[in-house]
Amino acid sequence: MAKITKEKFKTYKGVFDEFTLRNLFKLSTQGYFDDTETLSPVFIGKESNVFSAKRGKDKVIVKIYRLENCDFNRMFDYIRYDPRYIGLQRQRRKVIFSWVQREYRNLLKAREAEVKVPTPYAFLNNVLVEEFIGKKEPAPKLKDKIPKNMKKFFDNTVAQLKKLYKANLIHADLSHFNILNFQEKPVIIDLSTCTTLDSPRAEEYMERDIRNLCAFFARYGLKEDKEKTIKKITSHQKV
Ligand SMILES: Nc1ncnc2c1ncn2[C@@H]1O[C@H](COP(=O)(O)OP(=O)(O)OP(=O)(O)O)[C@@H](O)[C@H]1O
Ligand SMILES: [Mg+2]
Repeated sequence: MAKITKEKFKTYKGVFDEFTLRNLFKLSTQGYFDDTETLSPVFIGKESNVFSAKRGKDKVIVKIYRLENCDFNRMFDYIRYDPRYIGLQRQRRKVIFSWVQREYRNLLKAREAEVKVPTPYAFLNNVLVEEFIGKKEPAPKLKDKIPKNMKKFFDNTVAQLKKLYKANLIHADLSHFNILNFQEKPVIIDLSTCTTLDSPRAEEYMERDIRNLCAFFARYGLKEDKEKTIKKITSHQKV
């Protein structure tokens, strides 16, 4: 193990710090993915680097939050309003690790409520492992693959948000960047900002999420009313 680790350290030197590497090795040793060598980059986000990795014949997503070069103050400004994280201190590592844990918890809760989100498999400090959405390639973002039937896709997205709301959650960063179009069906991703309904910001987040959603579909000629959509999500009526 020590020898392999050393070689891998060379391979990944400069890409990951040693702490992150150790987390990756641990997760792969525990069987969440085959080998750190199978990591292949998918996307570089504001706060994280997203990779795919092999697990047998399957693939998983490994989302690695950067310990440096990440705006943990922005993260803190979100998570501090989440009642589940009251008392969290504004300290880089504490904020990042809580952020990852929260994303895992949100995904799990959403999954239990049958919202179409990637199934979370594991998290360790700054690393999250979750279901790979896609066939060979990762599914495209909604912004890059316009649905054939906009109305159907919109209604399906609203149905997912309603289930999320019933599970006591609000996405808080919803847009055409955080919805994948997988075989003409929405999969909601990036639940790191997702907070519980008792957050003092819940209403503001909901307004913003649905405003973004309606504005995107309006560009393609689908006129949906923001207020009515919010009502649909928050009321008991079926969509
Ligand atoms: N489970 C998944 N399956 C397939 N692709 C994924 C998955 N998770 C993330 N991706 C891809 O990686 C990109 C970034 O993921 P995500 O939005 O979770 O990260 P982020 O760091 O929050 O990015 P951003 O800076 O855009 O907010 C997504 O837009 C998507 O293209
Ligand atoms: Mg994102």
